[in-house]
Amino acid sequence: MSQDDKKKRAAEAAIEYIEADMIVGVGTGSTVNHFIDALAGIKGKIDGAVSSSEASTARMKAHGIRVYDLNATGGLSVYVDGADESNQHLHLIKGGGGALTREKIVAGASEKFICICDDTKLVPYLGKFPLPIEVIPMARSFVARELAKHGGRPVWREGFITDNGNVILDVHDMEIMDPVALENELNKIPGIVTVGIFANRPADVLILGTDTGIKTIQ
Ligand code: A5P
Repeated sequence: MSQDDKKKRAAEAAIEYIEADMIVGVGTGSTVNHFIDALAGIKGKIDGAVSSSEASTARMKAHGIRVYDLNATGGLSVYVDGADESNQHLHLIKGGGGALTREKIVAGASEKFICICDDTKLVPYLGKFPLPIEVIPMARSFVARELAKHGGRPVWREGFITDNGNVILDVHDMEIMDPVALENELNKIPGIVTVGIFANRPADVLILGTDTGIKTIQ
């Protein structure tokens, strides 16, 4: 089975967590695209969605799913999103698609974070996937020097601008032994908007698509 088929399996399994009249928090990426397509199948049952990116908004609107501004809703019950890596504690690396800031906001506003991935994303330790960090453009070089002091090798994602008008540094070779501590530490660097470690607010449920079915960790 292809990696994409496994993503689809995980995405379709997440539909079970969606209840009548919900406003659903929706992430970004190729796995979430499968989730959005599945959500379209039950769009008459839900109230609508809050989106974490322009890309997901466009896909949901094309399906006729109502998209709310987060400010117009109360807290959300459920947020569904993918990840680039997860450890057993459901600490995540996110931001491969560059949508990490809005993803962290919507995850933070949600009671339950359902993470959907193919099984290759489950790793013993985070950090093999270069850590995405969203940065205010004028701070790019300063933040890169600060990240190097933490042992990482930041690479500017050239030509990429986030939905918020910022840039991304992908930090290679970062040892992430304590994801909560590192997220807190990097959050102190001026100019960083969002660190792609989701550990202070980890996922609550991880649904992995595998060759044989679904594996759920919570
Ligand atoms: C988007 O910014 C990311 O956080 C995605 O959730 C992550 O990159 C997973 O993407 P895929 O579902 O495309 O693998």
